Amino acid sequence: MRSNLERAVDAAEFSCRPLAPVRPVPGLREDLLQGFARRPRSLPPKYFYDARGSQLFERICATPEYYPCRSEAALLAAHAAELVDLAQPRIVVELGSGNSRKTCHILSAAERLGGLREYWPLDVCREALEQAGQRLTRRYPWLRIRALVGDYLAGLGHLPATGERRLFLFLGGTIGNFSPQEARAFLTDLRACMGPEDFLLLGADRVKSAVVLEAAYNDAAGVTAAFNLNLLQVINRELQADFDPAGFCHRALYNRRRMQIEMLLVARRRQRVHVGALERAFEFARGEAILTEISRKFTRRTLTAMLEQAGFTVVRHIEGGEHLFSLVLARLS
Ligand code: AVJ
Repeated sequence: MRSNLERAVDAAEFSCRPLAPVRPVPGLREDLLQGFARRPRSLPPKYFYDARGSQLFERICATPEYYPCRSEAALLAAHAAELVDLAQPRIVVELGSGNSRKTCHILSAAERLGGLREYWPLDVCREALEQAGQRLTRRYPWLRIRALVGDYLAGLGHLPATGERRLFLFLGGTIGNFSPQEARAFLTDLRACMGPEDFLLLGADRVKSAVVLEAAYNDAAGVTAAFNLNLLQVINRELQADFDPAGFCHRALYNRRRMQIEMLLVARRRQRVHVGALERAFEFARGEAILTEISRKFTRRTLTAMLEQAGFTVVRHIEGGEHLFSLVLARLS
């Protein structure tokens, strides 16, 4: 049994609040209407991450084919001390923190070096934040954790004010989910809320052989397929739709010209899907695809150029021996 005192300490050290958006954030309803009006039809990837989707993503990270997560973790394990020493953060802010597992490398390095006081994980999935919060308060009892639930794209302008030096983490290669224009808008917004003392640590996946890339998004155990198809269940639940997940199949292809993985749900047969909340039906031809995610891959040069165009200067670029994945530490130029 935990004492009242222990419980009180936990309550004080972990809080989870909504992150208010600065501008109106379109919901699934608006995003679906917009995305389904285009050809190919598309949906934003953030809707993958309901409680089940977040769990499936964790299982993807454990598949032998999905190297990005392990590669990034290895780079963090080897270089966290150096990165924390360069950035000297008082506060670590993580955009899209998920289960915060890889963050431990940064937090443990900061524990040894001293100076860190707070960790602000931001995510759309409250369950993931609460689970991570419980684990982290036990492991780092000295750390104050302020979790913020919401869309970090829209909420950046409402981060709590602070005069203290921050290290922003944007890991996992999620920057690859944005089109070049979206990435630029995001980095420009992020830049606007950073101070001259703050640092950004960005994780990005690298261009490599199509065989390796496509295998990473087509694991043999079918976890990525389940993750992709779970999006249809999210729509069914949230918008009273009647998608039959068995009517679609998962596909992921590398587009060399655009240097991106394109993840699709392809209709196995002609079908009509009714979306109750919109009082509308959508027709799908056999073979018609919904683009559910792009995952862009970078070279050392395209990564540097993207950051520089958005007003950042690269302080340190870590890519490991095999150049599978990059970690870039940057600050405002
Ligand atoms: C979490 C966005 C980095 O793009 O590789 C993994 C998501 N999708 N397998 C990625 C994902 C399918 C992942 N990110």
